Amino acid sequence: MIFLKTDDQIELLRESNLLVGKTLACLVPLMLPGVTTLELDKRAEEFIRDNGAIPGFLGYNKYPNTLCVSVNSQIVHGIPSGYELKDGDIVSVDCGTIKNGFYGDSAYTFAVGEISIEIQNLLRVTKECLYLGIKQAVAGNRIGDISYAIQSHAEANGFSVVRELVGHGIGKALHEKPEVPNYGRRGTGMKLKSGLTIAIEPMINMGKRDVKQSDDGWTISTLDNLPSAHFEHTIAVRQGEADILSSFEFIEKEIKKLN
Ligand code: MF3
Ligand code: CO
Repeated sequence: MIFLKTDDQIELLRESNLLVGKTLACLVPLMLPGVTTLELDKRAEEFIRDNGAIPGFLGYNKYPNTLCVSVNSQIVHGIPSGYELKDGDIVSVDCGTIKNGFYGDSAYTFAVGEISIEIQNLLRVTKECLYLGIKQAVAGNRIGDISYAIQSHAEANGFSVVRELVGHGIGKALHEKPEVPNYGRRGTGMKLKSGLTIAIEPMINMGKRDVKQSDDGWTISTLDNLPSAHFEHTIAVRQGEADILSSFEFIEKEIKKLN
């Protein structure tokens, strides 16, 4: 079942998704050596509740926290813990909210201190993959056009695409139809219609694409232990150009303040 949203519903989704962007931004000043990933989680939960919303991941399929915090070779679904961030780490933070009954879902990969040029490239290319995918998310195109744009850009830069996890429809449920893979062929898959709301979330590895799952039942990491990056936006499909409902603007404004 595919749910197309009304304009009013899309505005509610925007509200929830902008709150995710602001929540991620409030973590920027904490991205320092010695800060634990559980401290990030506590700050995010407090911020979300202070803004009249509920953490979207907490309790979802029994997930124990507000954030997924995945460091270095961890790809996604890292559980916040006593791990202390250190200089040179990359930290993928995925955050969800529920406000007015609609989900927000967005993710950003942060750098702690100085990171190598290779890892800077991984972050840049993964974010480019996200925006190239979004560019294809217009009415009349197909899911495969998004997938192909992401895969071809990642692979042209010598990186690999995780296949076990995909983007998804989003609305009153965190995960709705359709699935949005980050690999695939142009002109294949479901045709996109105005009012379709989806989360696009490339997970791109520096080395091979293979993954492993941790004994904690959640954390997904690269099999070769090389770094991985993850950026995610929730968007509404429209005629001509997608409407990006989440935002990295708050985050990037905070990052600029530090530099
Ligand atoms: N952005 C992720 C997703 O869309 C986050 C879900 S994690 C969970 O799948 F904890 F909520 F399961
Ligand atoms: Co998602």
